[in-house]
Formats: sequence, structure tokens, C-alpha cells
Amino acid sequence: MLIKVPKTTALLEDQLIRLRPHLHKDSVIIAAGMIKHLQKSAFQCIEKIIGPLTTSLAKKKARLIFASLDEALEQPVSPYPTRYDETEIGLTLSNHANVFSREHLDLGARFFLTHFSEIPGVQRVVDLACGNGVLGIKYQQQAPDAQVEFIDESYMAVASTQDNYRSVFPDNDSASFSAVDGLSQTDSGSVDLILCNPPFHQQHVIGEQMALEMFRDSKRCLAQGGELWVVANRHLPYPAKLKQMFGNCRTVGTNKKFAVLRMVKR
Ligand SMILES: C[S@@+](CC[C@H](N)C(=O)[O-])C[C@H]1O[C@@H](n2cnc3c(N)ncnc32)[C@H](O)[C@@H]1O
Repeated sequence: MLIKVPKTTALLEDQLIRLRPHLHKDSVIIAAGMIKHLQKSAFQCIEKIIGPLTTSLAKKKARLIFASLDEALEQPVSPYPTRYDETEIGLTLSNHANVFSREHLDLGARFFLTHFSEIPGVQRVVDLACGNGVLGIKYQQQAPDAQVEFIDESYMAVASTQDNYRSVFPDNDSASFSAVDGLSQTDSGSVDLILCNPPFHQQHVIGEQMALEMFRDSKRCLAQGGELWVVANRHLPYPAKLKQMFGNCRTVGTNKKFAVLRMVKR
């Protein structure tokens, strides 16, 4: 079994718990990772679920971990998906192992929600980069007739969104859920409103390019008069770039850390 050690130990734990029943005492288990990403918790996780391990010498800043199955270890029960109650917004959110803000509501999303009453009620809505779906679900609560499409590139995020949506709206089958790259599958001019708390980290890469690409594509997908609403860290240069793209960018609200921005496609 070959494993590339993922960034979050929760995801490694989830993967190992799923793989463990398929292993036997002669299985060869090799995990690999860049040293700077190999946390102590990753080693502990492998020892707890699989068994004893040894490591290779470092080569080009990477290391191999060799583990062998300890059949005496109890088969662990997966703690995923995990849930938390967000009493302030009246939701219980379920999250698979690799979902953004798996342990608590993101501060940016929390601030964004304080401005939701200012968002117009429209029909065709996309929760772009939906994570566990919190934004689209809250919008659906205030606009029951909207058709919300939830988009995230992560299958675990989309599965969490489906679970959360169905627990809040068991009888509403108007929403759709897509595990795709941004708006790559969305028709031009087909959307009235896009809500976005954009990604900032992509695996280990930090950059603004993904967010800017989502904003550009949002403009393509919005109908005339359609709106893009974004929450972002205030230190990011998004307002100027969004103004260039849309010809307008209104700051709806700010706190110490975040800004909520509203763009209209003219
Ligand atoms: C900052 S989180 C926002 C999650 C959620 N909307 C919230 O407010 O808690 C950004 C999300 O973007 C997703 N993402 C990253 N790259 C993406 C892409 N190319 N297409 C769609 N989603 C992407 C990540 O998986 C992550 O769930």
C-alpha cells in the first residue's frame, strides 16, 4: 500500500481507517511526504491505526515511512463525519474529514452571514466553493424559491453539503450539488447570484490566482444585472481587481479582518 501523506491528519486518519480492513500481516505499507508536512500527529496516527513504523533518511526534503500491520490493534471506528452545533446561526453542520472549517464555522463565513439580509432574493443561485454548504443553506432559508447549486472541487465537501442540506430541507429537491472545478461546467449568463468565500490555500500552495479565476468566471456566468457577493480577508487586493473586472465593486461591510464585497454585472 502506497500513501502520500495528506496535509490534514484528519484525512490521513480517515484514509487509514478505510484501508485498514484490506491489510494483512504481510502487507507492505509505505507512506511518503515532504518533511515540512510530516507532523508528529501523522506518525502517531499511523502507529495507532496500522502499527509500528520506521522512517528512511531524508532525500530531497522528503521522507518515507515504512509501517507494518499490528493485527492486535483494535479496528478503529471512524469519527467522520463529525458535527458541530452553530447555535448563533441555528445550524448543525456535518463535515467529512477533509472539509474546510471542519471543526467550527469559518470567521469569514460568519461575518458574511451578518450581511445576508441585504442580498436580493433571486432564483438561480450558486454557492461557489461551498465547503459544507453553510452559505447556500442560509440563503435558501431566506429565499425558499431559489434554486441553489452548490459547487466545490472536493467530493468530501459536496457530500457534507448534501448531508447538511437534506437535514435542513428534507422535502426540497430543487438544489443541485456538483463536485467540479469552479464554474467550468456552468453556462454563460445562466446565474442571478453567486455567493463566494473563495479558496486561498490550494493543498500546500498559497495564492490568489484561484480566487481571481473564480471571479472572472463568475462574470461570465452571471446574467445581466446578476450579482457576485464575496467575503475576503481585508489584506487581499480583491476590491481593486474586482473593480477592474466588473467596472464596480461596493464594500457592503467590513470588520477588523474581513470585507463583504458586492459586484453587479452590467
Ligand atoms: C474558504 S473555503 C469556503 C467554504 C464555505 N463556503 C464556507 O464559507 O465555509 C473554500 C472552498 O473552496 C474549495 N475549492 C478550492 N478550489 C476550488 C475549485 N477550483 N473549484 C471549486 N472549489 C474549490 C475548497 O475545497 C473549499 O471548500
